[in-house]
Amino acid sequence: VRIASGALKQLGSFTRLAVGPRRVALVSDRRVASIYSERALRSLRRAGIQCALVTLAPGERSKTTAALERLWLEFAALELDRDDAVVALGGGVIGDLAGFAAATWLRGIAWICVPTSLLAQVDSSVGGKTAIDLAQGKNLVGAFHQPAGILVDPTTLATLSPRQFRAGLAELVKTGMAVDAGLFEWVEANHGRLLRRDPAALRAAVSRSLRAKARVVRSDEREREGGGRSALNYGHTLGHAIEAAGGYRGLLHGEAVAIGMRVAARLSVRLAGLGATEERRQDRLLDAFGLPDQIPAIPLDALIGAMARDKKRQAGAVRWVLTPRVGHASVPRLISDRQVRVALLEAGARA
Ligand SMILES: NC(=O)c1ccc[n+]([C@@H]2O[C@H](COP(=O)([O-])OP(=O)(O)OC[C@H]3O[C@@H](n4cnc5c(N)ncnc54)[C@H](O)[C@@H]3O)[C@@H](O)[C@H]2O)c1
Ligand SMILES: [Zn+2]
Repeated sequence: VRIASGALKQLGSFTRLAVGPRRVALVSDRRVASIYSERALRSLRRAGIQCALVTLAPGERSKTTAALERLWLEFAALELDRDDAVVALGGGVIGDLAGFAAATWLRGIAWICVPTSLLAQVDSSVGGKTAIDLAQGKNLVGAFHQPAGILVDPTTLATLSPRQFRAGLAELVKTGMAVDAGLFEWVEANHGRLLRRDPAALRAAVSRSLRAKARVVRSDEREREGGGRSALNYGHTLGHAIEAAGGYRGLLHGEAVAIGMRVAARLSVRLAGLGATEERRQDRLLDAFGLPDQIPAIPLDALIGAMARDKKRQAGAVRWVLTPRVGHASVPRLISDRQVRVALLEAGARA
């Protein structure tokens, strides 16, 4: 993992060092590519790597089988072989999709992750989870496939839209709430600097958050039953259901997770002994970041149905990650549909 301002200019030498490929497929979305692909291609070529750019439509709706097939066909046209590599330049969507394409191409070739969104820089770039969505649920088809290297250039965050920037802050709050009380307190104390995109604060947030996530992933890479990694799904049971039930057209991932965390905290107060003050601290921080608190107008049954189809399901009830204290989320526990229903109604879901 290399985190440095201007790191994008070192992409070529970084890739050479991490993989040493002859050819590279540089995968990006059209928005990110329009700003950063030239810089990336120039650096790769300067390092003597042959490369071709493949771009997709921006946004969650590119995490599909159709987009995946498109990448495979491009890899075939490029004749990518086992010693070649995929470079994912973009947010979490591009990382998840291009990472999965790399995991499946020739039964797995190397990939380099170059996260450009805040969400990807503080969260999705580390951990090796790759996937696409189905109408039936988020991330249902995927693989664990660790990138050979992660190159983070925090200066790319300057061009992110305010809404996308705020969505990334949600995962930062999540990592604090779930596994790192120190990070949570730091985010609380520095929320103004973060909102202003103060470069030093962003660098610190990215490195603290990635370090926290890496520590958890190292202890439980495959998210085993009873392992620690599942704590990072805090806020995601409801978050994923909101995204899937909305056809991936409504709220952004980080926004849906923010709502999921509000309900998870409420359930944690009720069922896991979280202090009401701690719940308020979380919600105040989400408010300060301008993250939503209203469950979208999705009928309650559709939400419960989407949770039931989520892979975190077990018979009769839904698995939720709750936390008794800031930074100490526990393994998921089964919460009855009835309790979930009550919590959702209290949070303003439509009956
Ligand atoms: N693999 C994991 O562990 C993991 C963890 C968390 C989230 N995720 C996944 O990540 C996805 C969300 O990621 P995301 O929020 O980055 O979405 P995204 O990849 O769609 O990026 C968000 C938007 O910002 C734009 N963008 C990105 N970088 C930019 C830049 N520097 N300047 C201007 N525009 C830029 C993109 O074009 C896109 O429109 C979800 O699919 C989620 O499931 C994966
Ligand atoms: Zn997430």
